[in-house]
Amino acid sequence: MRSGIERLFNPTSIAIVGASRDPSKIGHKILKNIIDYGFRGKIYPVNPKAEEILGFKCYPSLASIPDDIDVAILAIPATLTPSALEEAGRKGVKFAVVIASGFREVGNFELENMLVKIARKYDMRILGPNIFGYVYTPSKLNATFGPTNVLQGNVAFLTQSGALGIALMGYSIAESIGVSAVVSLGNKCDLDDVDMLEFFGDDENTGVILIYIEGLNRGRAFMDALMRVSLRKPVIVIKAGRTEIGRKAAASHTGSLAGSPVIWEKALKQAGAIQINDVETAFDVAKAFAWSPHPQGDRLLIITNGGGAGVQATDTLAEKGIELKPPPHEYVTNLKALLPPFASLANPVDLTGQASEELYHHALREALQHPGIDAILVLYCQTAVTEPTVLAEKILLTLRETEVKKPLAVGMVGGGETRKAISFLTSNKVPAYPTPERAANAIAYLLIYAKIRENLARKLSII
Ligand code: COA
Repeated sequence: MRSGIERLFNPTSIAIVGASRDPSKIGHKILKNIIDYGFRGKIYPVNPKAEEILGFKCYPSLASIPDDIDVAILAIPATLTPSALEEAGRKGVKFAVVIASGFREVGNFELENMLVKIARKYDMRILGPNIFGYVYTPSKLNATFGPTNVLQGNVAFLTQSGALGIALMGYSIAESIGVSAVVSLGNKCDLDDVDMLEFFGDDENTGVILIYIEGLNRGRAFMDALMRVSLRKPVIVIKAGRTEIGRKAAASHTGSLAGSPVIWEKALKQAGAIQINDVETAFDVAKAFAWSPHPQGDRLLIITNGGGAGVQATDTLAEKGIELKPPPHEYVTNLKALLPPFASLANPVDLTGQASEELYHHALREALQHPGIDAILVLYCQTAVTEPTVLAEKILLTLRETEVKKPLAVGMVGGGETRKAISFLTSNKVPAYPTPERAANAIAYLLIYAKIRENLARKLSII
């Protein structure tokens, strides 16, 4: 499945129309981000009032650039956009990225239709309008007015909402989540979720796709693409406008018709998507997918030093339809000798409040190596016996010294030192969370997705 938009993400030349001299303006910020993030292709600022911006020669118009242009970012007001688009078309520009607001979302359908008409005339594709731009880290391209220091990784984040998208770029940095791409879709007058799903479904730099959607232009095509892509990689969907009042808000935000929540839920489920309603959980789960191998089975083991944390995690898992099985007999026998008599060796395995880092090390190493265990949830309640940061180092060491890779999530509950331990783990690509429920939820979705994939494979081979 080829989307035909590879060049948008791997351009050899970019023009920024409206590259302002004023550092506070959007056109300036986009140019600066493109330069600072290290884009290796050619960069052409366009502004008739400037000779040079940020050390780059400035051109008075697209036509005056002595080179072919793959992508033109249009960062000028909506009313000036059609004439700039005409010029881009005449120049043979392949993709126009229209940043301006002031189109369909405010009832200005005519102006937006004009863009589509011009683009069709020249066989040019449009991303936007009403967007903050896009990032593709393998090309070292950050053409947004969001944060500069986006981390490289394998999550493609596609968003219909602009401001929320920018904020979540910052959130992903704070959570150490690396991205392959961030794409602002806005009003989707041309390129839409279907084009993006097809591109990122095939993209070898992308392992997980996270989409924030308010409404779709091509519902059927989207569900078809979603099903094909979900077979290969997890697609997490945050569907906004799930209530009557939320649907009205979506309509005035990006001009989208949000549709009936029941139909959406059913269709997304059938297509194999992982529908998550809140942003925090969506990123928690994306993190787990980004850093974990696919589970080989559904036998999940919980290792904890607190019974309560274990019970909370067990409830969260049960609510997601995941049942814990007793740990393998040899695993229990092996551990028994090291534990006090009051320790519980069911699942969750309770190492008790007096558990040391060494005991965690042993329990985790054996679980990683045991073929009867497919996934592991390590829980820790802060005690004076075990330093959170020391335990975090021990967990990382155990993972590194054990050859076997299994899905794993860590939940650490406690104070400031616990937060430091979580940051340490996430900066080393170990999915770690501040509550047992969030950790359990994240690992639950890895197991759920394994089932989804199995069902899709069965369904698609029947068709
Ligand atoms: N070609 C090249 N440059 C042009 C131009 C043209 N045809 N017309 C104007 N310019 C220059 C201007 O002179 C200015 O440069 P200067 O500051 O050095 O003088 C620059 O382009 C920007 O034009 P300006 O009129 O100052 O626009 P602006 O920066 O105030 O606003 C937008 C432009 C697109 C940012 C604004 O109209 C907008 O839509 N903002 C909302 C964006 C948004 O929220 N998107 C949704 C995602 S969250």
